[in-house]
Amino acid sequence: MCRVRRATPSTSLCYEGAVVLRFSVTTFGCQMNSHDSERMEELLRDGGGSRAGEGDADVIVLNTCSVREKAEQKLRSEVGRIGKLKRERPDLIVVVSGCMAQQEGAKLLARFPEIDLVLGPDNIAELPELLAEIRLGAPPFVRTEFDLERPQFLRAPNVVGSRPTAFVTTMKGCNERCSFCVVPYTRGPERYRPSDDVLAEIAQLAAAGVREVTLLGQTVNSYKDPKGLLARAPGCDPEDPDESEFAALLRAIAESATGLHRLRYTSPHPRHLTPSLIAAHRELALLPRHVHLPVQSGSDRVLKRMIRRHTRREYLERVARLWRAVPGVTLSTDIIVGFPGETAEDFEATLALIEEVGFVGVFAFKYSRRPNTPALRLDDEVAESVKAARLERIFATTEPLQQRHLASLVGTTCEVLIEGPSKSKPENLTGRSERNEIVHVADAAGLELRGKLVEVVVVEAFKHSLLAQLTAESRRSARAQTSSEPRRRSLPLVSVAS
Ligand code: SAH
Ligand code: F3S
Repeated sequence: MCRVRRATPSTSLCYEGAVVLRFSVTTFGCQMNSHDSERMEELLRDGGGSRAGEGDADVIVLNTCSVREKAEQKLRSEVGRIGKLKRERPDLIVVVSGCMAQQEGAKLLARFPEIDLVLGPDNIAELPELLAEIRLGAPPFVRTEFDLERPQFLRAPNVVGSRPTAFVTTMKGCNERCSFCVVPYTRGPERYRPSDDVLAEIAQLAAAGVREVTLLGQTVNSYKDPKGLLARAPGCDPEDPDESEFAALLRAIAESATGLHRLRYTSPHPRHLTPSLIAAHRELALLPRHVHLPVQSGSDRVLKRMIRRHTRREYLERVARLWRAVPGVTLSTDIIVGFPGETAEDFEATLALIEEVGFVGVFAFKYSRRPNTPALRLDDEVAESVKAARLERIFATTEPLQQRHLASLVGTTCEVLIEGPSKSKPENLTGRSERNEIVHVADAAGLELRGKLVEVVVVEAFKHSLLAQLTAESRRSARAQTSSEPRRRSLPLVSVAS
């Protein structure tokens, strides 16, 4: 038996029937999902729960993605696997959350009798309350209401010294409706978080030791403050339909966030890379010299069928403006191959665009038909074998570009925000450069550098990362600070080089 649960106005975490649970949360998909998973874990911990392996858990949460069909297949195999555990332990609660939950709703309950709760991305705050209902005997149900009237934005608690980097949500949903994309249906229309709330969270994170914040949103740079608190940013053209208040938000963060070293954002839409945002890149030292700017295709014909709302030339013009404003800025992108009707010539235009921009990172995907999307109505599907061959050619084009870029950095200095010890070699530290390259810093064992910005010299380029050494000045400064600091403090407030 299944039922769809009606919206309740309360999302309070105070509920009756709360129980201490061991839980396991598995995440598929993008950073927004990782952020949502972390928030679910916190809610469960706050209710007295503790993390466990799936074999010992009382609650298993699968936080799903539905952006491509492959992600959907993954869910099917995961639920099958967990079904075995549920047959052995009928008390086990299985929750499916995320975009698949929103997309499929009650259909998931009908298809998979092992699922107890289908939870939409906007209903995460209700998780403890809903689990309590299940423990009290409620039959399987669905809770997938968009919070259109009073949007909620989940935030991380501030645990001092816990990490040097953090994600902060500034908006959710998407109004673009690119013809291939399911996100507008699974995450709903755009809703923005008030800027004072964003600033308050960032100030708290910075005070707790966070040094790099990544602003999150599906089209993060379409931001508009729902309270109208932001002044117009310099360079802002009020007549430009692509203009937003994102540059003003970046400026407000840069002015107020003491202690922050870097401010990233993901993912912007090219049409909102307006002159005011480019001016912010030129003027704000906090913004790194890297932008992930999804383009999807290099062919105008395909871009039009994708409803991307920009041409190849417009994309290149905006990138050229960014390059002029911020010399050395690097770009990465997303590409879809085999979109319906993509000809060999269209695909060659995409390869040519990749070469022309010199992307240092390309996330390429085979087009996948998604429910509800307008592209389902397009003819001329591209054969799977052609998609696979095109994907290979994308990799063959982008890997040398990435290699050339990394090799060009050998012998140069850069600033690395240290995140912690390297996984493969604990005597090395790992962090990211101002351009977002992964940098391993050699011979840094024993130095208290987590959360610090250090200057390094690049000594070797690997396939996807760099090896570097601290400059003499950085090493001296790091040694001096390490010996003068209490050892238990892992996130010092002073940067070695800034
Ligand atoms: N704006 C979002 C994009 C979400 S989808 C963000 O913040 O990341 C991420 C990427 O998946 C898209 O840029 C696109 O390249 C790819 N993608 C989306 N729908 C797809 C589909 N139907 N088939 C193949 N790839 C797709
Ligand atoms: Fe998807 Fe296009 Fe929005 S890729 S998330 S519909 S900008």
